[in-house]
Amino acid sequence: MTDKELLERALEAREKAYAPYSGFSVGAALLTKDGKVYTGCNIENAAFTPTNCAERTALFKAVSEGERAFTAIAIVGGKGDTLNEICAPCGVCRQTLMEFCDYTFRVILGTPENIRRYTLGELLPFSFGKGDINP
Ligand code: THU
Repeated sequence: MTDKELLERALEAREKAYAPYSGFSVGAALLTKDGKVYTGCNIENAAFTPTNCAERTALFKAVSEGERAFTAIAIVGGKGDTLNEICAPCGVCRQTLMEFCDYTFRVILGTPENIRRYTLGELLPFSFGKGDINP
């Protein structure tokens, strides 16, 4: 699975986004260590707070299926039919990913034509994690 293919899976997932309040649709594709892909979209709610981001939808789907080891996630997002040049994961999603992924976990942003690559360590440095509770 190439980074471009993973971004394309995120784009497909974005089509399922339920975003009637913000109009901002996000798709994510999470790659496991054995090469399986779990996709997710954002799912909004009239009460706003229960809204779930695309990244967490993908992660929760995967973990609930027994997956615990991940290598990368691709994320795309934008309002309506437009796609942002970059749709960076929110702070809550970064922290949620950190629970299962280390600093080397790859975060693939941008578009299939203009791929931007980061690590979770770059996006959430000096973070609090399970090692702090059980050193
Ligand atoms: N959103 C995501 O799905 N992922 C992010 O990392 C940023 C924000 C969603 C939540 C909400 O439905 C919409 O984008 C606007 O914030």
